[in-house]
Amino acid sequence: MIKRKWQINGKVHNIQFEEESRLLDVLRDRLGLTGTKEGCGEGECGACSVIIDGELKLGCLQLAAVLSDGTDILTIEGVEKTALGKRIQKSFLESNAVQCGFCTPGMVMATYYLLSNNKNIDRRTIKTALSGNLCRCTGYRSIFEAVELASGRK
Ligand code: FES
Ligand code: FES
Repeated sequence: MIKRKWQINGKVHNIQFEEESRLLDVLRDRLGLTGTKEGCGEGECGACSVIIDGELKLGCLQLAAVLSDGTDILTIEGVEKTALGKRIQKSFLESNAVQCGFCTPGMVMATYYLLSNNKNIDRRTIKTALSGNLCRCTGYRSIFEAVELASGRK
């Protein structure tokens, strides 16, 4: 077993997991943070998006064991408690950007990352930022509108 001490959503967690565990498994199965979803499990859909040490990453491709003690991890459960996270969630609801909702945590994470790191947002920036996130339901237009709304452009 591997032992690690990570900061997750602002709280320190001592965790044990198997050597071959993916971060996605540790978050969902060891910590009960099931807001992070598994869609494809192979880096194609973005449903498992999390922020690791300030970078947007895919939990399904991230081997947990390579993350050292002190790693800072932000999941949808942490983002939804922030003012920006709340604004993004509200914008998604108001723009009808949620249907089945399976892609939504990953979309919100990618949006949070975009809006946290960029001031000048336009439709092209939004499309690029969300290009790693697949949605089978919405056709994307309402999602792009939600991001614009959250950014204050609409
Ligand atoms: S589950 Fe990770 S990219 Fe699809
Ligand atoms: S809302 Fe269903 S996959 Fe996006």
